[in-house]
Amino acid sequence: MNLNQLQKAVERHFAAGPAAVGDPTALAVFHEFRAALERGDVRSAAPDSATATGWKVNVWVKQGILLGFRLGVLEDYSSGSFSLVDKSTFPPRRFGVNDGVRVVPGGSAVRSGAYIARGVVCMPPMYVNVGAYVDDGTMVDSHALVGSCAQIGKRVHLSAAAQIGGVLEPVNASPVILEDDALIGGNCGVYEGTVVQSGAVLAAGTILTRGTPVYDLVNGTVLRATDELPLIIPRDAVVVPGSRAVTRGNGQEWGLSLYCPVIVKYRDDKTSLSTALEELLR
Ligand SMILES: CC(C)(COP(=O)(O)OP(=O)(O)OC[C@H]1O[C@@H](n2cnc3c(N)ncnc32)[C@H](O)[C@@H]1OP(=O)(O)O)[C@@H](O)C(=O)NCCC(=O)NCCS
Repeated sequence: MNLNQLQKAVERHFAAGPAAVGDPTALAVFHEFRAALERGDVRSAAPDSATATGWKVNVWVKQGILLGFRLGVLEDYSSGSFSLVDKSTFPPRRFGVNDGVRVVPGGSAVRSGAYIARGVVCMPPMYVNVGAYVDDGTMVDSHALVGSCAQIGKRVHLSAAAQIGGVLEPVNASPVILEDDALIGGNCGVYEGTVVQSGAVLAAGTILTRGTPVYDLVNGTVLRATDELPLIIPRDAVVVPGSRAVTRGNGQEWGLSLYCPVIVKYRDDKTSLSTALEELLR
């Protein structure tokens, strides 16, 4: 099946609803679709310069993943003294030396239907969920989560405990996207379809959601998500966690402030020095 035919078949079986359950053709289509996801041939979102975010959401890919949940039954994947149970359609992925992916021993898992490019390093424990796309040379550090359908570019550094939220439903919603060379500091959280453009740096502890306004000190603007667009962190922005005073009501009276990410500058030589990875570790 070429990709066009695969798309049509996925859409047809997804539209069939519960009638697809038990249909061997639907399961065969799903398996073909899942293999295409793991090869990186299909993605839940792909670069598209014609759109305002620079990315186009592929609704049918998300439908294919949801089809897999519908078709799967619970299966026991237990190993040794560990109990592991998941849908039969999403067994944990296995990697070999020829895949060129380093999965360091110690409690990590990559769910099937995720694409992991050559040269990716996975430090334990970490988890990559279905539909995620992790491109060449990216480092997924300990306790990092790559949520469902998240799109992670080349040479991204997901530092320890960085949480990249999953966006599976609604099917037309954008997944979280981290473009090439982004640095996501330790304990960051990027959720709800936020786009971090290439080269941007999130200092440790920065949290971004659809509802989080981001104050750009350099350009004097406040960045927000809108009904049509997710929050977009501009290329090369350096974002640090800050706070802003509440200026009305009880919050003002009580002297409260709210969490507030701040763009303090755009990447310079010092930032590149601060974020350089030790090449020998690769
Ligand atoms: C953002 C970061 C990369 C620093 O970048 P940088 O370009 O060297 O930043 P600078 O030191 O020039 O700082 C620029 C401004 O931001 C402030 N700033 C920098 N890092 C900050 C932080 N984490 N929180 C709050 N403010 C911060 C600085 O004080 C400075 O403001 P000032 O000029 O008013 O003093 C660094 O702070 C960081 O968070 N690195 C990631 C660390 C990490 O998570 N490692 C994980 C390894 S697993």
